[in-house]
Amino acid sequence: MYLGLDIGTSGVKAILIDAKQRIIASTTAPLKVSRPKPGWSEQAPEDWWKACGVAVKAIARQKPKAIAAVEGIGLSGQQHGATLLDKADKVLRPAILWNDARSFAECRDIEEREPRARKIAGNIPLAGFTAPKLVWVKKNEPRVFDKVAKVLLPKDYVRLRMTGEHASDMSDSSGTFWLDIAKRAWSDELLAATDMSRDQMPKLYEGTEATGRLTVAVAKAWGMPKRPVVAGGGGDNPASACGIGAVKPGEAFVSLGTSGVLFVSNERFMPNAARAVHAFCHAVPGAWHQMGVILSATASLEWLAGLLKTPAPKLTSSLGKTLSGPSPALFLPYLSGERTPVADAQIRGLVMGIGHETDAKILTHAVLDGVAFAFRDSLEALKAAGTDIGRVMAVGGGTRSELWLKIIATALNLPVDVPADGDFGGAFGAARLGLIAATGADFTEVCTAPRIARSIKPEAKARGAYEKAYDRYVEIYPAIREI
Ligand code: XUL
Repeated sequence: MYLGLDIGTSGVKAILIDAKQRIIASTTAPLKVSRPKPGWSEQAPEDWWKACGVAVKAIARQKPKAIAAVEGIGLSGQQHGATLLDKADKVLRPAILWNDARSFAECRDIEEREPRARKIAGNIPLAGFTAPKLVWVKKNEPRVFDKVAKVLLPKDYVRLRMTGEHASDMSDSSGTFWLDIAKRAWSDELLAATDMSRDQMPKLYEGTEATGRLTVAVAKAWGMPKRPVVAGGGGDNPASACGIGAVKPGEAFVSLGTSGVLFVSNERFMPNAARAVHAFCHAVPGAWHQMGVILSATASLEWLAGLLKTPAPKLTSSLGKTLSGPSPALFLPYLSGERTPVADAQIRGLVMGIGHETDAKILTHAVLDGVAFAFRDSLEALKAAGTDIGRVMAVGGGTRSELWLKIIATALNLPVDVPADGDFGGAFGAARLGLIAATGADFTEVCTAPRIARSIKPEAKARGAYEKAYDRYVEIYPAIREI
């Protein structure tokens, strides 16, 4: 038996699989985000640990024999979060999360201090990443900064509680802005640019490697007498890629969740920092990946649903399933700033082209289009870095809208594959990594693609109009940036 634990933003998800990768049990323990000031987003690391206990014990109650047979555990987690520990591993302040925008000025500080930063990192420093958060802490909470003995990513804090080890994997560490991603090693130059050093970093492993075993106490509390090994695991996006079988060059998926991700696996490091492509190590050895990250995907639709006091599924179903063309209005989904391609934490969204005829349907359609155009922006940024994508798999809550999938296929001009029923989040991918670490299996044999339920093709009749609407969409940001 193998267990996957995903330390998400809204909850910890646990999935138990057997040697044939059949899902034996799964459960989620909820988490809350605290937003003490506008733009801030924090969680107490202790809450992650408690939620892990709740989730694992819930599975143990359902399947006590299966949980006692666990031999490998994989970890997946929300990327980039900064968990600050003192020399006794005590948490120094609430963790600052991936969607916290406070440290945008500190991104500039890093580039001023180390003008080669983009070149070394192959990425642009973004407010969501870990390193600028530490610069913010140094500036604003110097007494906390002085006590920082280790910085861990969310899933790696959970690992510390599970195994007693300070360890991380290559994929998640890529999102810190302290890793030399081509070399898969910490970068002394990037660390120095934020007054950090190697001894404050965890030891690096591949996502498929064992980083330690459950401590005797945790193994007892969780009912796992075999003291399973804990795999390096991965950031939630690369771990999801392991779950969906996007591990070989060119294999890609779009994730239509709160935030949206266009992810593609690469055989080598392929950066495009100028357009804020995230070019990171994959969670499997010898592989890299690129992703475009859009901060408000289903979050944009949820915003409109709240405004119109109508549930999101009702809004989308009111548009029917046929796509004849784009909405007459254009929506820029930058509700909390944007990462790819503009790397702008301060920009905000807009609706353009509203008239007397604009109603809830036109606005809903504009929101679906706007998110699809944001994915197209990411696709163009990935292409400019030399990547060729022939089709994409679609995962996440937003895929329940058939029309949205059609819009995305048409805006990207790519077929979109919808997997048959299954679980394709980070927890399943993490369980696969736990299996590999425990058995030594070959990742290409374990991380296979699911059965495809259906493929959605670009709507030929609407392609031309979508292309024109996208041409207008790309003009908006440069025109409004200054005002
Ligand atoms: C990726 C990112 C988000 C989080 C969500 O760069 O910040 O997708 O990983 O948990």
